Amino acid sequence: MGKAWLRDRRRDGYYRMAKRLNYRSRASFKIFQIDDRYRIFRPGGLVVDLGASPGGWSQAAAERVAPNGLVVAVDTATMAPLERVTVLRGDVRSEETRRDILGALAGRHPNVVLSDMSPNLAGNASLDQSRSAELAQSALDVARSLLRSRGHLVVKIFQGEDFPEFLRQVRADFRFTKAHSPKASRSASSEIYIVAKGYRGPPGDDSEESASEE
Ligand SMILES: C[S@@+](CC[C@H](N)C(=O)[O-])C[C@H]1O[C@@H](n2cnc3c(N)ncnc32)[C@H](O)[C@@H]1O
Repeated sequence: MGKAWLRDRRRDGYYRMAKRLNYRSRASFKIFQIDDRYRIFRPGGLVVDLGASPGGWSQAAAERVAPNGLVVAVDTATMAPLERVTVLRGDVRSEETRRDILGALAGRHPNVVLSDMSPNLAGNASLDQSRSAELAQSALDVARSLLRSRGHLVVKIFQGEDFPEFLRQVRADFRFTKAHSPKASRSASSEIYIVAKGYRGPPGDDSEESASEE
């Protein structure tokens, strides 16, 4: 991505660039930027993508875990199939969806949990923020129950009064934590991504098992 990329960015923005490069959404560039900076994905990795529709992050993650990796994508909304992606439909907060995720993982622990989940916006900043914090919390719960030891979490949250407590929890569970505002986010937005690396806990072990292994 050189001069043409910069020219595109100025003239067309991320939305047009996503269309031209056949990405499902402009959000693909956010996760590419995060991965370029923090090294989240690795070839052969296993990724759980929460709030995945229409699939921009899943598509980007599937590209970076190729050829033997797998992405498990979850959303309440429908999502068209993608190569190297298992698509599940359901609410991440429900037990049933969590069981479906376990089923799709077939006993393996993911290296990465992603969450770009957003609430339906009510237009009331405080309410939107607390709903976003609830979704971020459920992503952290999923990460705690599934992630392999030393695995990574990237989670979106709207900044607001619940943010410091959420960040404190993530800091307690991961060796490295950074609050990141990707360039590909709309500038007026209060969304922020917490990039957390090196999960401290069980249940996963820290062997370098890949998604292609049984
Ligand atoms: C910003 S979009 C995700 C965009 C996606 N990362 C991409 O790159 O294309 C947020 C998604 O979160 C989903 N979502 C919100 N609450 C959810 C929940 N409780 N369970 C599952 N998905 C949820 C929405 O349906 C929506 O598709």
